[in-house]
Amino acid sequence: MSIAIQTTHLTRDFGTVRAVDQITFEVDSGSLFGFLGPNGSGKTTTIRLLLGLLEPTQGNSSVLGYDPISQGDLVRQNCGALLEHTGLYERLTAAENLEFYARVFRLSAQERQTRIKELFSNMGLWDHKDETVKAWSRGMKQKLAVARAMLHRPKVIFLDEPTAGLDPVAASAFREDLQNLVRQSGVTVFLTTHNLNEAEKLCDRVGVIRAGRLLAIGSPDELRLRNGNPYIDVVGSGFSPEVMRKLEQHPKITSVLQQDHHVRVQFEIGFDSSSLIPLLVEHGINIEEIRKGRSSLEDVFLTLMEEENA
Ligand SMILES: Nc1ncnc2c1ncn2[C@@H]1O[C@H](COP(=O)(O)OP(=O)(O)O)[C@@H](O)[C@H]1O
Ligand SMILES: [Mg+2]
Repeated sequence: MSIAIQTTHLTRDFGTVRAVDQITFEVDSGSLFGFLGPNGSGKTTTIRLLLGLLEPTQGNSSVLGYDPISQGDLVRQNCGALLEHTGLYERLTAAENLEFYARVFRLSAQERQTRIKELFSNMGLWDHKDETVKAWSRGMKQKLAVARAMLHRPKVIFLDEPTAGLDPVAASAFREDLQNLVRQSGVTVFLTTHNLNEAEKLCDRVGVIRAGRLLAIGSPDELRLRNGNPYIDVVGSGFSPEVMRKLEQHPKITSVLQQDHHVRVQFEIGFDSSSLIPLLVEHGINIEEIRKGRSSLEDVFLTLMEEENA
């Protein structure tokens, strides 16, 4: 798999404020990468550095193999971005907006037609394409803004807090359509968010940033591992020493804890814990309840923030 974005000790100061502090990471081509952090943690500054809109104080980066400082134009030609402003014209219809930007990007008439149709369909906006944008909900506008950023078939798109200000239903619809688009086009997405739930649902990998520093990076599963393996809690009766031994010796099970009628079985990520049910039943255990438990990314996030404060 090739690498779309790469940074080495990327750093940016504003006066005495270090907005981005020695950040090193890679983003695989075709993946959806989330930069997760609270307000003021350096997310937007990182995007601006990667797009060559700001120069780093130290360190460097490369986007699609280009250096954003010396080859900023090439970076911007091959990337799309949705930053603070959507750049949409409220008085035009959605179709007119895309038509306008498609001309700015110098797409041919034929290409404009197919591309605009494709994007409207992918973003679930086809039926609304002739409506004036002014009348639209924020969620629809954000989707149109993503379509706009995708017109010239960029290989990478940067989305800065694309669901900020959307209600939960709109945010969820937005995420679904974004995932469709990514699957269809193979575009690499670099997205920032301060919403854990969103990072967890949407992203293949997540970098957690705070006060300019990258605290952790990995898939949501890998990050969760920091707070311990997933587990199931079994409530029931008949836990014999024999079945407890069976569980303990299971190659995928990492720990078994018993407290009266309650057994917590912790296992490796990726193990299908439902396969334990026949084993328990076979050994005569009377199961009253089974609950799946795993630490949420939120727990991990909170732990990381606490570690940082300590
Ligand atoms: N142009 C600027 N001038 C001065 N300080 C800035 C500028 N841009 C960002 N900062 C500061 O850098 C830090 C990170 O900001 P930002 O990257 O916008 O964070 P985020 O996008 O995560 O909310 C903040 O302390 C912010 O005040
Ligand atoms: Mg920001």
